[in-house]
Amino acid sequence: MPKVTIDGRQLDLPDGINLIDAAERAGIEVPHYCYHPGLAIAGNCRMCLVEVEKMPKLQIACNTRVAEGMVVHTRSDRVKQAQAAVLEFLLINHPIDCPVCDQAGECKLQDYYMDYDDRPSRFPLGRKNRKGKAIDIGSGVMLDQERCILCARCTRFFDEVTHTSELAIFGRGDRNVVDTYPGTKVDNKYAGNIVDICPVGALTEKDFRFRMRVWYLDRTPSICGGCERGCSIDIHHHRGRIYRFKPRYNPEVNRYWMCDEGRHGFPALQGESRLVAPLVQAKDRMVPVGWTAAIRRAAETIAETVNLNGAGSIGAIASAQATNEEAFALKRLIAAIASNGSRHLGGFSWSPPAASGGDNLLIRANKNPNSEGLRALGLPADGIDRLAAAVAAGELKLLVALRADLAGALGEAEFGRRFGALDYLIVLDTDVNETAQMANQVLPIAAYPELDGSFTNFQGRVQLIRRAFDPPGEALAATEVIARLGHAIDGVTRAGQAELVFAEMAASEPAFRGLSIEALSPHGAMLVDRSA
Ligand code: SF4
Ligand code: SF4
Ligand code: FES
Repeated sequence: MPKVTIDGRQLDLPDGINLIDAAERAGIEVPHYCYHPGLAIAGNCRMCLVEVEKMPKLQIACNTRVAEGMVVHTRSDRVKQAQAAVLEFLLINHPIDCPVCDQAGECKLQDYYMDYDDRPSRFPLGRKNRKGKAIDIGSGVMLDQERCILCARCTRFFDEVTHTSELAIFGRGDRNVVDTYPGTKVDNKYAGNIVDICPVGALTEKDFRFRMRVWYLDRTPSICGGCERGCSIDIHHHRGRIYRFKPRYNPEVNRYWMCDEGRHGFPALQGESRLVAPLVQAKDRMVPVGWTAAIRRAAETIAETVNLNGAGSIGAIASAQATNEEAFALKRLIAAIASNGSRHLGGFSWSPPAASGGDNLLIRANKNPNSEGLRALGLPADGIDRLAAAVAAGELKLLVALRADLAGALGEAEFGRRFGALDYLIVLDTDVNETAQMANQVLPIAAYPELDGSFTNFQGRVQLIRRAFDPPGEALAATEVIARLGHAIDGVTRAGQAELVFAEMAASEPAFRGLSIEALSPHGAMLVDRSA
């Protein structure tokens, strides 16, 4: 471990790291544009110049590795002068767009100008070069060539990560522009990442731009529910609405990136079809009722069914959209009702037919975030077949379906054929779907951005999701609904809060044994025993 002194502070640093990352470990910012830890070093912006003792010229920190005995100054007069000069050059042809630029508030030109330059321009406004503005380059990305500082992060991303090379830098000198090749467009499933890594307002997202000023957005760390990869994300939200998903660094799962399908998946979580009150069938229509009446009705029907047909007449199914805690709470409920609780307990993973397949970067063909969690909890993936067979045998009379749109998965006719003989169907879901429309009772639950809990990805990594805001209307966390239902059935108080359910799960489920919520932050933790 080389010993390095940065701005008078002695640090023991790992071999091979560069001076930007080394300084960051000491809480010292070295301003930079072109350097991105997920891409090759380009060394073209010169914003990261630092002074290294015994070296005659200033060095770029992004391409200088730590070495034993190195003494570095990041705020000496020479460095300050160089930083201000680099910014002056970068701003010579930059348009006066800040009031109308969607990057304002998260723009590295704005930030660094205030911190490292802060001088009036010496360049006449009328002599600035004009370049292309608001160019739709494809895949939902807008390019403003005048705002581009030619750091080449976007071109490197397409060259090194997706290997699609749709963008390049054309022209010479101060006429340089980033652009697509003539007659072509950006066309790949990860294009949104170039918007994330562009340090200025040159690349913006068509769907997000001008919808919300970034300083109004709150951030909540979470996991994308778009497929079984479970990329780490931040949910950017304001007053209970999601405005965008951004990838969050996770070295074990998605590094710095996410796919566009996942990035643009949030509108489906907050659509018009959200369920906002418990519904109970009354003659030929569903009527809203309060939670007390809804839980009482469900509990009484379960008790009556058990009295008439035995405990084996109750079953439950969870889809792999359910969290670990929800699936565990459902399993716990069925075990409380029937001593042989697993007999009619099922899980299923179903990908909507229109969803894309997988690739070898991030995207997985299985569009469920928690197939592995259900498997680890012993909810058999062939749940639909097992439960349909029990219905056909006349055994299963009442089914609780958790985030399980069986009719959507099977088609209405097939659902009727296989599950039509049920006496009673209780649906816990977020939206009015085909199964909810055929249920005897519907209990509205929170979507995953409105929940605390966890998903287990295909690698067996258990990852935290955090509640960003409250669910709409009267919807509740499913773990809470299941706990209330259990209490109404047998008077036993069970944990409904996700953290308590997790602790119970970690104490009793072999695959989760010994895990704690704290151990899941920030990058998740592996199931203790994947074969359990
Ligand atoms: S568009 Fe953005 S990321 Fe691409 S070179 Fe220009 S400033 Fe860099
Ligand atoms: S790869 Fe999967 S988990 Fe990752 S962002 Fe895309 S859909 Fe979401
Ligand atoms: S960050 Fe070092 S030259 Fe750009």
